[in-house]
Amino acid sequence: MQIRVENLGRERDPAEKYHVDGTTTRPAFIGAATSYNVRMLIRKGPDLRYSDITPKSLYLRRREFLQTAAGAALGAAAMMVPPLAGQAGAQTKGAGTGHGAKLANVKKSPLSTAGETLTSFDDITSYNNFYEYGQYKEDPKANAWRLQPRPWTIKVEGFAAKTGTFGFEEFTKPYTLEERVYRMRCVEAWSMVIPWVGIPLKDIINTFQPTSQAKYVEFVTALNPAQMPAQTTRSLPWPYVEGLRMDEAMNPLAILAVGLYEETLPNQDGAPIRLVTPWKYGFKGIKSIVKIRFVDYQPKNTWQVMIPNEYGFYANVNPAVDHPRWTQASERRIGEFFRRKTLPFNGYADQVASMYAGMDLKKNY
Ligand code: MTE
Repeated sequence: MQIRVENLGRERDPAEKYHVDGTTTRPAFIGAATSYNVRMLIRKGPDLRYSDITPKSLYLRRREFLQTAAGAALGAAAMMVPPLAGQAGAQTKGAGTGHGAKLANVKKSPLSTAGETLTSFDDITSYNNFYEYGQYKEDPKANAWRLQPRPWTIKVEGFAAKTGTFGFEEFTKPYTLEERVYRMRCVEAWSMVIPWVGIPLKDIINTFQPTSQAKYVEFVTALNPAQMPAQTTRSLPWPYVEGLRMDEAMNPLAILAVGLYEETLPNQDGAPIRLVTPWKYGFKGIKSIVKIRFVDYQPKNTWQVMIPNEYGFYANVNPAVDHPRWTQASERRIGEFFRRKTLPFNGYADQVASMYAGMDLKKNY
């Protein structure tokens, strides 16, 4: 069966439904989108699911749309955007969303957080935010099998002595992998404890020798609608972008993660390589990175572009500065029943607070 999609050149409304005969319809419950449609980071409260406030029939219609759109997008994107070099191989449903390959020679790091119960592998890999695969927590696990994390290239550009495009293996090979157990606090007020495996970002940066003009580092996720179906919708401006100030990027806690639980990263957690900055809200942890740029301006990150009065550049975990629509003073640890207090800088103040000395953290949220 062939899926035909009309009007490839125009921007699509994520509420549209694509039919196999090439026509489209727009469900009235979302309507014509002239701006971006997002669900979770703009929802009413941290624990409200769309299904909690929406009649079940509409909820199911949306899921049906997502599935149809994903299939249609695959057909459309195959015509529009060439897949990453050499990635045209057959895809298998379920692949890459379960356990990955065991990683060898992983060193335990003294910078790991002690005294916390690890969140289960199951929760870490089935409760995700990865809008390229949909807007519900369960969507990334269901849909990220389309991502092909090999072969993968990372382009390094900007103000640095060494720049270029590197294969994932070449990019990661010089370094010893470290296990870093970190708390992860999402801006939506849920949290986890994750045993990441990664490489100190500062070691990677030192390899490329940024010049004194490099004030910030910008990270960019893959743009590949053939493998990331929601990129054919306007749920977010694509590709996903994040940034760090150079001293933040050089902080010993910042890592580029390539695995968790001593296995390669599952697709839904950002395979093959993603950023982890445990003192910041989770949205700074950009997934499936293909570009790292040393720049002289403060990059505009995706959520800041989306809703600037709610999400800023710094995104430091701060129980004293509430989100405009919910408290940040407490959080729900996934796997626990009672809420717990949120700690300044997510409990990493000793290692990071000095970077923000003298700054108004209410303004620089
Ligand atoms: N990176 C990309 N490319 N796309 C995304 O939608 N979501 C962010 C961040 N990185 C996101 C992303 C948000 S909002 C969070 S909370 C974390 O990923 C979630 O990471 P996890 O799913 O591995 O827990």
